[in-house]
This record gives sequence, C-alpha cells and structure tokens, in this order.
Amino acid sequence: MNVGILGTGHYVPEKVLTNKELEQMVDTTDEWIRTRTGIEERRIASEEIDSSDMAYFAAKTALENAQVSANDIDLILVATVTPDTPFPSVACKIQEKLQCTNAAAMDVSAACAGFMYGLITGQQFIQTGTYQHVLVVGVEKLSKITDWSDRNTCVLFGDGAGAVVLGEVSDGKGILSFELGADGSGGKHLYQDENDHIIMNGREVFKFAVRQMPESSVHVIDKLGYNKGDVDYLIPHQANIRIMNAARERLGISEDKMATTIKKYGNNSSASIPMALSESVNTGKIKDDDLVVLVGFGGGLTWGAVAIRWGK
Ligand code: COA
Repeated sequence: MNVGILGTGHYVPEKVLTNKELEQMVDTTDEWIRTRTGIEERRIASEEIDSSDMAYFAAKTALENAQVSANDIDLILVATVTPDTPFPSVACKIQEKLQCTNAAAMDVSAACAGFMYGLITGQQFIQTGTYQHVLVVGVEKLSKITDWSDRNTCVLFGDGAGAVVLGEVSDGKGILSFELGADGSGGKHLYQDENDHIIMNGREVFKFAVRQMPESSVHVIDKLGYNKGDVDYLIPHQANIRIMNAARERLGISEDKMATTIKKYGNNSSASIPMALSESVNTGKIKDDDLVVLVGFGGGLTWGAVAIRWGK
C-alpha cells in the first residue's frame, strides 16, 4: 500500500506584524531580524480566532482539494502546542465543525516537529489497512504564548495553519521513507514556562538544528539509495533561513528548490511545514513525480523528515 498526500490547504490570519512595528515594542531592529533570521513580517490572529478556527479553515480547503468528503475521514490528527484548551482537543473541535462523523480525533504534541509526527502516524494507520483517509493538520496560535517583552523570542513567531489529507496513491508515489527522533535531555533549551511563555536558548537550539536538519534530510534520501542532487524540492521547518540553508546546502540543491515562507510568516511551529507545502503546491513549485523532502525540528527536542514522491 502506497500512502500519499491527496490534497493540501492552509490559512493565515489577515493581521500583519512587521519588523518595523516590533522596533516600537522591544529593543530590536528590522536589520537585525532580517539578517539573523530571514523574517520580514509575521501574521497574528485576532482575539476571536483560536487555533481550532485556523485549523478548520486549513482542513476545509485540504478536503476540497483532495476531493474527499468529510464522512470519509477516519482519523483526524492535529499537531499543536497551542490548543484552544488542553481538552477537548483541537482535533475534536474540528471533527464537529467539519462534520467528520466517522472520524476518531486526537492532538499530537511534538512542538515544531509535530506535523512530521502526525504525518507518519497517519501514514501507518493507512498502510496497515486500518483506515483509508486521515486528515493531518498543523496549527499554532503562538501569539498567545509569546512574551511580547522578550526580544529573543517575540521577533521569531507567527500564527497560522496547514493541513493535508492522506490516502492511498499509485505505485511508486507517496511517502517513501521517514525518520523521527527525540532527545529529551535538550528539553531545557526550548520550553513553555509557568507563565505560559516560550523560553528559548537560541544558541543551543541553533547548534542542534544546524546539525539535525541536514542529517535527517540526508538520512531519508540515503534510505532510498538516492543521491543528494535527486531531491527536487525541500520544505524545511521555517525557523531561521540560516538553518534552512544548511539543510539545503547539504542536499546540494539550489535556492529556488526550497520553500521559504519564513519571510512573510516567521516560525509557525507545527504549522510551518504544512503551510509551506500548501503554498508550494498552489504556486506550482511542486510538480507530479517530484522527489520532495519535508524536514523539521523543535522543542522536546524532537525532529522528523520524510521523502515523498509527489502525486496520486
Ligand atoms: N534584536 C536585537 N538583538 C537581539 C535580538 C533581537 N530581536 N535577540 C537577541 N539579540 C541579541 C542577543 O541578546 C545577543 O546579545 P549579547 O551578545 O549581548 O548577549 C546577540 O543578539 C547575539 O545573539 P546570538 O544568539 O549570537 O545571535 P544569533 O546570530 O545566534 O541569532 C537567533 C539568534 C535566535 C536568531 C538564533 O540563535 C536562532 O535562530 N536560534 C534557533 C532558534 C529557533 O530555531 N527556534 C525555534 C525552534 S523550533
């Protein structure tokens, strides 16, 4: 059984927060943010829009694009570290909104690698013949756990959602290989504190990420016996353009073969990869038969990568 992505969707809030505006909020500059991170602006969800609303919008588009009806979804997995409430889960909330009456539903917590964990969990259920269609969503309203007085973190994050529908695809297509990993000993470098704020040791996270992202990207290609240059498109977690470029350079591919939504959306944690994937599909950057690598890392510490032969 070959399991692949049948359709994608994403949602971003309307409100744009620019680097210039951040200059008024903390001791930073547009120049510092651009050169150190690659971020120019990010989206911030309004009071009324919570994670389940963004997840719903992204999922609805993914279902439409996949041409799969809500009733045919067997499982909903939502990767998020910013659920509306710890329970009920965002997955249960969108199960009701979408009217996926036959679906089981749960949230997955693996921080910025959460979508990779969700994607592979969904794939396994289909590959074993248990389920036919799984909806996987990555969503974050990071603005509600951002310390807006901490320049180390508040310039990095933004809100948004991305979604995919997984199902059977033809021979040779779909998810070909994956790698998931975790190292709890690094949890102290990136976590949510007792005030519900993101605390980050940027330098430590950077060191981990510039090693792990390139390594995992290469591992999933090696497993298939492909060479680095064989990769047609790379979708890295959008945390920092320098970390993303490290993965790209290790794969030996040019800049135009890498999704870079970080400029306009910043780091959206679990939502970054599916948002970038959905945009890349919409803009025609990913074509049928392309070898696509998705790779992410995050708090936990966690990481994950997949190689996909695009198409149904
Ligand atoms: N504006 C201006 N200066 C800032 C700043 C900001 N927004 N944020 C931090 N600084 C300062 C620091 O205080 C530090 O000052 P000091 O040397 O006086 O202590 C200085 O900039 C340099 O810090 P450094 O950590 O060396 O910068 P950097 O080039 O490594 O970039 C990050 C900082 C956060 C951009 C980088 O470490 C990074 O991207 N880390 C990974 C973060 C990440 O991926 N997080 C999400 C994981 S999913």
